[in-house]
Amino acid sequence: MTLTERLDFYRKLTEDALTHALSSENEQYYPSIFKAARYSALSGGKRLRPALTMEFCRVCGGTLEQAVPFAAALEMVHTYSLIHDDLPCMDDDDLRRGRPTNHKVFGEATAVLAGDALLNRAFETVLDPENTGNLPAETVLRAARCLAEASGMDGMIGGQIMDIESEGRQISQETLMLLQRLKTGCLIKAAAVMGCILAGRSDPETLGAAECYADNLGLAFQIEDDLLDIEGDITKFGKPIGSDAENGKVTFPALLGTARCHELVRELTDNAIAALRDFPAHAFLDDLANYLVSRDY
Ligand code: IPE
Ligand code: IPE
Ligand code: MG
Ligand code: MG
Ligand code: MG
Repeated sequence: MTLTERLDFYRKLTEDALTHALSSENEQYYPSIFKAARYSALSGGKRLRPALTMEFCRVCGGTLEQAVPFAAALEMVHTYSLIHDDLPCMDDDDLRRGRPTNHKVFGEATAVLAGDALLNRAFETVLDPENTGNLPAETVLRAARCLAEASGMDGMIGGQIMDIESEGRQISQETLMLLQRLKTGCLIKAAAVMGCILAGRSDPETLGAAECYADNLGLAFQIEDDLLDIEGDITKFGKPIGSDAENGKVTFPALLGTARCHELVRELTDNAIAALRDFPAHAFLDDLANYLVSRDY
């Protein structure tokens, strides 16, 4: 399979799982929350994180069935983080994945609840024996804990609060690195690590290599996102251009200039790929890292 074919394959599995998870037999009594959650969860997106979970599970000898519920759950957490990130009290953005943001369509109260609902549904999904009963309970616990930690105060939320509180201020490169690692890196790292755990590979060498790949990839990914916020084309990027500058965000391009950032993204991508040297059949993960640096969306 080519990179695009495999990404499409993983995307389809993710979207089928999301469609299934984001429905209910009682939906008719409170339909708005399902409409709002599905609006954001099923509106495109690169589906990078689910692809990482499924691919790391595959290269570690696991099956797709083992990975899909966690891949979909991670995408639900990611989608919730985007809905909240776009709210007027946060980045106040009107466009996401080429469409009006959740609060623009459904209102702020529903958007807050849709985010909360997706976060809960993520854990309902992985803790439902119908989805994960085929895995050893300890594996489910380990993977669920990994997802919870990456999403929480010492993970994505920690990074988001640092991001908000740094607006309009000067912070050091070191602090910015921590901010990026938390707000974006943690979920990307969890995607890779969960894939290994679900395949039953929790030895320090395997997890260390997966973490090193994802850490470098995550940093490169966020710096590329910050570059696209400056240099991107709104019709391809699907998000407003110039939002970071408007909000006084501290970003790597703001700190180091765009030329140095392009170099840095390349260096980090090379480091990510090098971390996989002892992994079997890692060509897709190499290609994925290279593709993310050259993306325009
Ligand atoms: C957007 O993530 C938020 C960042 C961490 C930069 P993605 O670029 O993965 O967004 P989608 O899921 O493809 O829309
Ligand atoms: C947000 O970073 C990361 C999370 C949502 C956790 P950004 O604020 O740069 O993401 P975009 O550019 O709005 O997607
Ligand atoms: Mg933000
Ligand atoms: Mg934002
Ligand atoms: Mg951004």
